[in-house]
Amino acid sequence: MKQNKQTELPFNIFLIGFMGAGKSTVASYMHRQYSMPLIEMDETLAERECMTIPEIFAQKGESYFRQAETELLKEIQTRSNVIISCGGGVAMRQENVEIMKKSGKVVLLTASPDSILERVKNDENRPLLKGRKTAEGIQELMDARRPFYEAAADLIIATDTQPLEDICEEIINRLRQMQPKNL
Ligand code: S3P
Repeated sequence: MKQNKQTELPFNIFLIGFMGAGKSTVASYMHRQYSMPLIEMDETLAERECMTIPEIFAQKGESYFRQAETELLKEIQTRSNVIISCGGGVAMRQENVEIMKKSGKVVLLTASPDSILERVKNDENRPLLKGRKTAEGIQELMDARRPFYEAAADLIIATDTQPLEDICEEIINRLRQMQPKNL
């Protein structure tokens, strides 16, 4: 079933998941394919601070960054039909999960540690992966985060092998089948 590109969704879609799980790639495809406004959280926060994400962590600290994430989510809750690529740590705060649920559906993207490693191995823009760029290092952080990701998710989609187009179509179709609560 193809999404009717003229019909706006009456809710937002928040993509959560581990670094390298495919949030930015999926969000950017859905932005183009379904004409949904896109918010890339890391990019927005970096632009606002005029710094890279590693610079924000180094100069202002992680808790400053986490609070900025929460404030940005609050801004988004007044909107609908937006596709949001969340930072990988967003679902770790219960407050963030509650804010996301007020205006949208939360979609967890997953991938194996090996797939993640392959995607992030040359990336220097993720402070939390410093010294952790091995399948074991990734697995360890992933295991610690998994309960938070899964508790937040309305829908879980693996991105290891499915083509991008199929992933996006599945997200749209499955969300449309869900009865939107309070929307
Ligand atoms: C983080 C993930 C990053 C970025 C920051 C912290 C995390 O986003 O927000 O480096 O805590 O998992 P991506 O998931 O887009 O890499």
